[in-house]
Amino acid sequence: MTDRLEYLRSEVARHARAYFEHDTPEIPDADYDALVRELRALEADVPGGKLSETVGAPPSTTFDPVVHAEPLLSLDNVFDAAELATWAERTLRVVELSPDECEFSVEPKIDGLALSILYEEGRLRRAATRGDGRVGEDVTDNVRTIASIPTAVPTRSRLEIRGEVFMEKAAFEALNEAQRARDLKVFANPRNAAAGSLRQKDPSVSASRPLDFLAYHVVDLDETEHVVSQSAALELLREWGFRVAAEARRVRGVSAAVEASDWLLAHRHDLLYEIDGAVIKVDDLALRSRLGSTSRAPRGAIARKFPPEERMTRLLAIEVSIGRTGRATPYAVLEPVVVAGSTVAMATLHNEDQVRAKDVRPGDQVIVRKAGDVIPEVVGPVLRSGAPRSDPWEFPSTCPECSSPLERSEGESDTYCRNPRCPAQLLEGIVHFASRSALDIEGLGEVRVAQLLEVGLVKDVADLFVLRESDLASLDGFAELSARNLIEAIAGAKSAPLSRFLVGLGIRHVGPVAARALATRFGTYEALRNAALDELEATDGVGPIIAQSVYEYCRDPEAEVRYDALRRAGVALAEPRETGSGPRTLEGRAVVVTGSLEGWSRDEAEAAIIERGGTSPGSVSKKTFCVVVGDAPGASKVTRARALQIPLVPGRAFRELLESGVVTEVLGEDS
Ligand code: IVH
Repeated sequence: MTDRLEYLRSEVARHARAYFEHDTPEIPDADYDALVRELRALEADVPGGKLSETVGAPPSTTFDPVVHAEPLLSLDNVFDAAELATWAERTLRVVELSPDECEFSVEPKIDGLALSILYEEGRLRRAATRGDGRVGEDVTDNVRTIASIPTAVPTRSRLEIRGEVFMEKAAFEALNEAQRARDLKVFANPRNAAAGSLRQKDPSVSASRPLDFLAYHVVDLDETEHVVSQSAALELLREWGFRVAAEARRVRGVSAAVEASDWLLAHRHDLLYEIDGAVIKVDDLALRSRLGSTSRAPRGAIARKFPPEERMTRLLAIEVSIGRTGRATPYAVLEPVVVAGSTVAMATLHNEDQVRAKDVRPGDQVIVRKAGDVIPEVVGPVLRSGAPRSDPWEFPSTCPECSSPLERSEGESDTYCRNPRCPAQLLEGIVHFASRSALDIEGLGEVRVAQLLEVGLVKDVADLFVLRESDLASLDGFAELSARNLIEAIAGAKSAPLSRFLVGLGIRHVGPVAARALATRFGTYEALRNAALDELEATDGVGPIIAQSVYEYCRDPEAEVRYDALRRAGVALAEPRETGSGPRTLEGRAVVVTGSLEGWSRDEAEAAIIERGGTSPGSVSKKTFCVVVGDAPGASKVTRARALQIPLVPGRAFRELLESGVVTEVLGEDS
């Protein structure tokens, strides 16, 4: 046996124990899958060297052993659409069925733990975890505390109902919050939380945890229910009162199955629970039993695993970056790793306390997570007993950019560089000024701004407006055309509305909403600057904190110099009268937008709502007036709106809503 083979076997066994037996995985699932795949590939080449046939870990001694009526099999994996198509082709060839004609049940692959519940004479008798697939652990008392599991079913047939115990994402967050508040251990993810909560000695602990169960399989031991298909099984389970995945679909043909699993991939973050893939099952159960199974997994079903959102990599260093406001943010420098389809080489660590709480140290192996659009995050270190570690990381005492002392005020979590001339603050301030949320100057990103600062062409935002094409010509990477385009983009910004300037200037506490309120009320920077404090405070939508901040900003000598320079350069600093003075059809109304609207960017849609007197919050509440539903909407917003009976307006009716302020069209129940 080769060294590698031996190594892989012991690693796979060790991680399987950590995962199944102790609920404390040391590595992300994707890394475990990679080890198993490599092991299987190697074993295929070694005569007689087959992987031990277990699919989990042997049961622990805390719970009584239970022999499953039928073994709980695992699933084989594919990793993309092409592999899925190949699987269907190869599998169905044996039964001479065309993949285009076969019906499949496509279901979310819930990231929880498998559970098998025995019902006899209509009563819940026993519930067991997977264990090694043949013998599981008796967790009946704990399972009886899970509200979504019926204690009785309307049939005399002896049954095992199988499914996944899990925790909804929101419930998991709330549980961790409560744990944190009581100084108790927080869970790394919903799966760990569910596993830890189910495998409790004391059922009252399980009862206090928000456990849930999704059913996906019926083993009809007496064969009196005559379930003929997977989709019928799900229907029956639903009728009996089990929770069944609302996203499950029956489709015809493998391309439709690919499509349905693509849909799950695209919407994975909108679901109420975490999923790590899709399960594609041959729908016809007679056909499935003809296909049979290997010792490990059925042949008539497959898991399409989605790109992992957690990977393990090495933390090379912890560094600190200085933002526009001087805030010093620690971040992890990582050995680059592909997470959820993109390469991650850096991840924020938020602040000093977070680094301490996670106890990550340079040199550690760490788990990196990137879920959807969320910025990458270091979950925590992966510790091996006995492995040497560096000392705990210390927050630097001076700014890495300008060497002035870093300060952290009593009771605050953030640390600041207070030097207003710190080059990093200047850089980020100008980048913010040119960004989309402010003046939206195309072609003026971080790299360009750094160049301009370095050669001394720009020292303040006002300097941008006196740049000439010839100034840029000598800079690296500036072709004639790009120099001209940038100068034109800057010139275009001279007439931008005052509200955008107010955002761009980075006045503390002034975001787009306050900026617009102030710009509408005062019209010009001149008038704003001359306003008394109580006048500022009297502005609709401007509280005392914002008013004070604006008042102080306007009296800062540097702001005065900047204002003069901007005026000299011909910058308007005025709010065009026509904006905000149109019909205020949505006055005081909250309109939530979800999904993409044809012909509108998200910013434009929100601006249009605000312009008509409305607000556009990011979530649905009782106070929401209506929800505008574009393409690929967020399922949770739609579900919540339905629950609260808030009208769902199709994207095509958005313009009419803006014009009339009334809902003229709503989406039906089934759309
Ligand atoms: S079917 C014989 N359906 O994923 C059928 N499994 O990696 C075996 N899982 O062992 C299971 N969601 O614990 C099935 N909709 C679903 C599932 C699902 C999650 C779990 C289950 C299984 C594991 C395989």
